[in-house]
Amino acid sequence: MAQEKERRKGGAGGNGRTGGSCAAARHPGSTRHISWAQLWLLALVIAAAVLAAAPPVLADVAVLSDKVLTQLPIWARNRTADIVMDFSKADPDFKFKGLGSISYRGKEMKVRYHIGYYHGNVAIVRFGTKFIAAVRKMHFYKTLRTDIDNYPLSTKPNEGEISWWATKLAVCSVDEATLQPQACQNFDPRNWQECLWNKGFEGTGPEDPRLIVWPGKGLYMMFGSKPSAVNPEGTTPDDTKCEGPWAFQQYLVLLQPHADKADAGDPWQRGVIRLRYLDGQPRPSDPNFLLKEKNWNPFIFKGKLYFSQQFDPHVVIEPHANGTCTRVFETSSRVFRNLTTKPRGNTQAVLVPAGFSGEPRDFYLSIVHAEINRSYQNFFYKMQAHPPFRIFSVSRAMPIINAQHPRNLAWTSVSFPMSLDLIPETNQVMIGYGSGDKTPRVKMMPWQDVQALFPKNTHETGGAWRYRDRRRAAALRRA
Ligand SMILES: *[C@@H]1O[C@H](CO)[C@@H](O)[C@H](O)[C@H]1NC(C)=O
Ligand SMILES: *[C@@H]1O[C@H](CO)[C@@H](O)[C@H](O)[C@H]1NC(C)=O
Ligand SMILES: *[C@@H]1O[C@H](CO)[C@@H](O)[C@H](O)[C@H]1NC(C)=O
Ligand SMILES: *[C@@H]1O[C@H](CO)[C@@H](O)[C@H](O)[C@H]1NC(C)=O
Repeated sequence: MAQEKERRKGGAGGNGRTGGSCAAARHPGSTRHISWAQLWLLALVIAAAVLAAAPPVLADVAVLSDKVLTQLPIWARNRTADIVMDFSKADPDFKFKGLGSISYRGKEMKVRYHIGYYHGNVAIVRFGTKFIAAVRKMHFYKTLRTDIDNYPLSTKPNEGEISWWATKLAVCSVDEATLQPQACQNFDPRNWQECLWNKGFEGTGPEDPRLIVWPGKGLYMMFGSKPSAVNPEGTTPDDTKCEGPWAFQQYLVLLQPHADKADAGDPWQRGVIRLRYLDGQPRPSDPNFLLKEKNWNPFIFKGKLYFSQQFDPHVVIEPHANGTCTRVFETSSRVFRNLTTKPRGNTQAVLVPAGFSGEPRDFYLSIVHAEINRSYQNFFYKMQAHPPFRIFSVSRAMPIINAQHPRNLAWTSVSFPMSLDLIPETNQVMIGYGSGDKTPRVKMMPWQDVQALFPKNTHETGGAWRYRDRRRAAALRRA
């Protein structure tokens, strides 16, 4: 993929003030001889004029190429398009016919059942002038437990097999006009031997590629994976089990640097970072419990990366370059009180400038889901564009297409948004998602349609919150 300089100046984080409000605020100083009432009227008129004249274009996104705009892209022709992304030509794995056997730790295992690959959860974002997609493709197979040395056997009938949910990730270039993938390359930056859960059910491979546009640094991917085995040389369950406390966790890796090449002096631009949030969840007392850390929503504020790790309450954590994450803010999220289950994260939170939304203030927009028995509902939410990043509004369920899962047919209503991005030229929102873990889709929504899903008149307000670290919070606000 050609490397493209990323031009989101100032970025999807922080300095989103429009020229309009600055001009209006500065004006009064130069007109001291008129009355305050006149002054305010004048300021208002100027602000209104500036706002009206301002095109709905973010200062931090490069304008699309002439090629696209003369061609009228599909999403501009149909502003509410919900398109299937067709990987049949772009990705060689699409034609994968299945496995006869699979090699595992140097041994061949006969495959007794196989379906897939299914291309499912897809992220699509704009990086500079290019669209880039990352897709998760899954296949499902079964092997005998006895094929793996020392794998725990089950005493129950019909449990002689291991059910594998195996994932690969691919990164693809995307045609700007059709939003279809052009050419994909498999991507797996892991250099460790992943652990076993030893429960007759195993995930394998990197999962759920979230693309993070990090202004000034580059395009990153956050993915989930099993960590390393405790002892990669050994075969007993005590050796093959996961190097704790997690059985599954999040990793961060640079895909394309902002500059022509990665800055070797920058610890964020070197290799895979294993994200560890030790306070994330209470440690289970049952040593066989599989502790999984997933579904964080990344966002960039003033050039730094943060994650929403939980949503109710809203817990914001800050990763360090060594992967350790610390909690920096925690606020209550009354807006989620009507959900029947705890919301979990989906996509990067993107800064929506006031000039894009027509609202009085900038805010972040992102997506969470609530799931009951693998029946998913997804919701947009709005979050303050400044610490403590309170979530102050939640939408009705998003109108995306739910579908049946290919492996577990009882899961009839599955959908999972993986990315969210703004198209400022056309005032649209672009959502990459997987429908039923088997169909990658991209949905375009005009901003008014997104706004219409929110309750009226929910603007950000104050309220109680507590900082984990008051000094850090104060420093952030001063920054
Ligand atoms: C626009 O896209 C939506 C969703 O994909 C579809 O239902 C609708 O028929 C399309 N409209 C036109 C005019 O193509
Ligand atoms: C990681 O970096 C942070 C910040 O520099 C530091 O406080 C922490 O102790 C480091 N953690 C480890 C495990 O080295
Ligand atoms: C929760 O549901 C009740 C009853 O349907 C409704 O009146 C209220 O506005 C809802 N609250 C939120 C925060 O959506
Ligand atoms: C989920 O499914 C199980 C088994 O089918 C059922 O017992 C349970 O009541 C369901 N839970 C909810 C909240 O619907």
